[in-house]
Amino acid sequence: MVLRIGGVLVGVALFAGLASLRVPEPALSGAEGCPLWCQALLANHEGHLSAARRAGSGTRRNAATLREAADRAGLLIGAAVRPEHLSEPLYAETLAREFNLVEPEDAMKWEVLRPDAQSFDFTQADRIADFAAQHKMKVRGHTLVWHRQNPQWLTEGKYTAAELARLLEQHIKHVVGHYRGKVFAWDVVNEAFDELHPSQLRSTIWLDQPGIGLAENSAASSNPDPSKLGARSLKQRFSYIEQCFRWAHEADPQALLFYNEAEAETLGPKSDAIYAMVQDFRKRGVPIDGVGFQLHIGNLHPDIASISANIGRFTALGVQVHITEMDVSLPVDAGGNASPEDLERQAGIYGQIAAACLSHPGCTAIQTWGFTDKYSWIGSHSKNTRGAALPFDREYRAKPAYDALRSALEQMERR
Ligand code: XIL
Repeated sequence: MVLRIGGVLVGVALFAGLASLRVPEPALSGAEGCPLWCQALLANHEGHLSAARRAGSGTRRNAATLREAADRAGLLIGAAVRPEHLSEPLYAETLAREFNLVEPEDAMKWEVLRPDAQSFDFTQADRIADFAAQHKMKVRGHTLVWHRQNPQWLTEGKYTAAELARLLEQHIKHVVGHYRGKVFAWDVVNEAFDELHPSQLRSTIWLDQPGIGLAENSAASSNPDPSKLGARSLKQRFSYIEQCFRWAHEADPQALLFYNEAEAETLGPKSDAIYAMVQDFRKRGVPIDGVGFQLHIGNLHPDIASISANIGRFTALGVQVHITEMDVSLPVDAGGNASPEDLERQAGIYGQIAAACLSHPGCTAIQTWGFTDKYSWIGSHSKNTRGAALPFDREYRAKPAYDALRSALEQMERR
């Protein structure tokens, strides 16, 4: 049997294992021994079960919004936002009506939060957190550690390794502490792997400073015992990342901590390397709760089966997957318009990705990078040759992609 979602046919196999169960079986026997993320799922699951029961009569009306459909399906549906637009009525209304999750697109990056080495400026990010609280939305924090959008005082500051380590620790603890109880999940480290050498970490000020990371590194590297080399070298390679997760966890033990990455959504060398890191972290009790798949799609034939398999193997490690930055950019004309055919293809991709996420109990959030084509990073980052990447057009009208997303969520909650 096949279902039609946003103009494409999706095999029902994609939904295999869904039933009404978005929580791993063992968790259903009770919250005991269930880690934090799993308890959150359990709560969602209870909500989902009662929604599914209500749906049992078959007479229930369609969900009016993405938010309603996502709430019924026990999923978070989010969008990246820019605080300067929150005063625009249509922007604010659409956001609050359609989404139950927000993430600052830029407002929590170092260059915005850190005017200098001593101070923090939370003005912009707080506007988003306040908006979310007012509209009962969750907040994902993005991002504590990245190689881009860092202030010049930091990148050109000629700090010693020890000073950089101190700055990073203070930054993580102060920012996570400021949003304790307000930000439920953090992208702790973003894009640490190198796109040119996908199985290796990229060179950044953070990786390149031997002082950032576990103190035992230096002792370990002077011990030549080859039988321990494999495990130890893995540990050493990722030690700055591990250290960041430990600092964030100290600052807010309740927050879910994610590693977020680009172009690692399908099975391949980059996702293999991340998988090895996460597996190692889980084994050794490093506090990691999830992996973010960015999913900036620029190719109209993404390998959905491979993305789904990748989501599956990560969730099988006991971590959640969030789709964190989805957009599907299209070629556009000088007026910024895409062809109707491409908009239909785009809708198909949105629907299939949503179905793939929903088919894995541990895939718990789908977030788009912006929500209206009026404000999307794609235009300025492609010299305006591409665009129309999001579910709402520039006038905040729902596009075919919106309908595809909503019907994928509705198919889920009906099962
Ligand atoms: C982008 C923002 O959307 C732009 O406004 C900014 O100019 C550059 O960064 N991966 C990420 C995001 O993790 O933080 C990036 O956001 C897009 C790619």
